[in-house]
Amino acid sequence: MEYLNVVKMLQLAETPLYWVGAVTTASLALWLLYHIFSGFRIWVLGNGDLLSPKLGKWAVVTGATDGIGKSYAEELARRGFSIMLISRSQEKLDDVAKSLESLYNVETKTIAVDFGQIDIYPRIDAALAGLEIGVLVNNVGISYTYPEFFLHIPDLDNFINTMINVNITSVCQMTRLVLPKMEARAKGVILNISSASGMYPVPLLTVYSSTKAFVDFFSRGLQAEYKCKGIIIQSVLPFYVATKMTKIRKPTLDKPTPERYVAAELTTVGLQDQTNGYFPHAVMGWLTTVLVPYKLVIYFGMRMNKALRGGYLRRRKLR
Ligand SMILES: NC(=O)c1ccc[n+]([C@@H]2O[C@H](COP(=O)([O-])OP(=O)(O)OC[C@H]3O[C@@H](n4cnc5c(N)ncnc54)[C@H](OP(=O)(O)O)[C@@H]3O)[C@@H](O)[C@H]2O)c1
Repeated sequence: MEYLNVVKMLQLAETPLYWVGAVTTASLALWLLYHIFSGFRIWVLGNGDLLSPKLGKWAVVTGATDGIGKSYAEELARRGFSIMLISRSQEKLDDVAKSLESLYNVETKTIAVDFGQIDIYPRIDAALAGLEIGVLVNNVGISYTYPEFFLHIPDLDNFINTMINVNITSVCQMTRLVLPKMEARAKGVILNISSASGMYPVPLLTVYSSTKAFVDFFSRGLQAEYKCKGIIIQSVLPFYVATKMTKIRKPTLDKPTPERYVAAELTTVGLQDQTNGYFPHAVMGWLTTVLVPYKLVIYFGMRMNKALRGGYLRRRKLR
């Protein structure tokens, strides 16, 4: 009798179970198709000629004399933008400006300022006056000399102020100077270079990681405010790129040259508000945020940076 009841119940549940299975399979297939399609759109088709001087004649790049910033300046000059280069050393600025002018036949201007100082913005404002700015790349950034516990960072008071001024204040202040005219013309692109270390806390690089989380939140909040006004604001979160900052001399697939990274990143503008910018980095971003538990990422970050700290201090014999 009981056995018959179970059979009857299973027969009654058969049709609903069939539909639950069918709907789940169809949703998964649609989810997968959507991701394959949008991945193809971003990483294969790209955004066409979105980044052209039609946005405005000038592109402004901070931290433009080395690494990722220099590559943005080169790639944007190649696309026909006139380039305003901003960094500390006038000599390096002149070298990059000369090379862009001769390679790409574009106009350049330079401003030599130290983003570690906060009284530089009236000077930058005066130098930008009258320029039609289509693209701003807030790239300038500094990291630790080596991973270190917060209280052991040499010259901590100065370190905190400088890192916040260079990594955070520069992004807010440069945006304050450039965005009003973009808003008035209802077009413009602002790329804010955060870091994958802004996606989760990175122990022993805690101040750097926190400044980069700020840049990411600032960008995404601002994009929500200004999207409807025709402005694109993108948060860019690279993993390792072979530059002076990382001291990586031999590029690999997951640690690309800045040229390779920037060429890939620029195809994502307008397609992703927040991006790791380069396909292998996008896979690493997905693995470390979706697949691996948050606590494990922090644990391995701590272990890796402790080992790097030990190596650095042994080499410098500072222990
Ligand atoms: N490389 C990576 O793996 C990586 C990963 C994630 C995120 N990022 C981010 O990407 C950005 C660029 O990094 P990068 O590796 O290309 O750095 P980099 O090779 O060290 O170049 C930094 C640039 O910024 C300028 N700069 C440094 N301090 C400055 C200051 N106080 N005032 C004005 N200019 C200054 C430097 O020129 P001068 O010294 O002549 O001033 C140089 O042009 C940073 O925001 C960084 O946090 C890098």
